[in-house]
Amino acid sequence: MDVTLRIKRYNPETDVKPKFAEYTVDVEPTDRVLDALNEVKWHHDGTLTYRRSCAHGVCGSDAMRINGRNRLACKILMKELGKKITIEPLIGFTIVKDLVVDMDQFFANYKAVKPYLIADDAPGAGERRQSPAERERYDDTTKCILCAACTTACPITWTNERFVGPAAIVNAHRFIFDSRDQGADERLRILNGGSGVWRCRTVFNCTDACPRGIEVTKAIEEVKRALLYERL
Ligand code: SF4
Ligand code: FES
Repeated sequence: MDVTLRIKRYNPETDVKPKFAEYTVDVEPTDRVLDALNEVKWHHDGTLTYRRSCAHGVCGSDAMRINGRNRLACKILMKELGKKITIEPLIGFTIVKDLVVDMDQFFANYKAVKPYLIADDAPGAGERRQSPAERERYDDTTKCILCAACTTACPITWTNERFVGPAAIVNAHRFIFDSRDQGADERLRILNGGSGVWRCRTVFNCTDACPRGIEVTKAIEEVKRALLYERL
């Protein structure tokens, strides 16, 4: 079937501002949006620029706005979208070129919450053990692929550059509630600050945007509750 992709294009070296370009491509209903973008790049206009790698919803590199919603281009089937599809870069970040945005601040915020196991004592019997129930406590937030769909769907991040954003909090949650970790108080102190969880207004855009089905807002609320009732 023929579909028309309406893609927001921007080359900072030649364009004053972004503008839409249209491409009509022949696709199968079961093709993904990423296949359609590849069709444009490989057969219509090789200058079209977008990130992609795994093509299977694992690497998180091809999050973009598709018909006004943050989605992974490699996960959405053409038959879900109709005959005219609008594709834009994630909003809230500087556009590098076309659908590629500058992720530097996103990853700086991620690193700021110390998203790794902090444990100074030696592991017992060669490994740090935990029960299935302890592992289950943070299972949901282990699924994050750092695509930024949640953070760039959050209206607070559009107006407050200091807010670490939902993705950083999800990755802090993953370690705060890990029974083997000893860095929870340190992370909670960071998230109790001016750029932390109290900037969240519980809009739920983040949960709606997450391609991994992570209950992002719930994770943020659990961190808030830990700050209020359990620690510090
Ligand atoms: Fe992407 Fe979901 Fe992780 Fe946010 S929580 S970065 S939407 S995978
Ligand atoms: Fe890896 Fe889409 S290309 S998640």
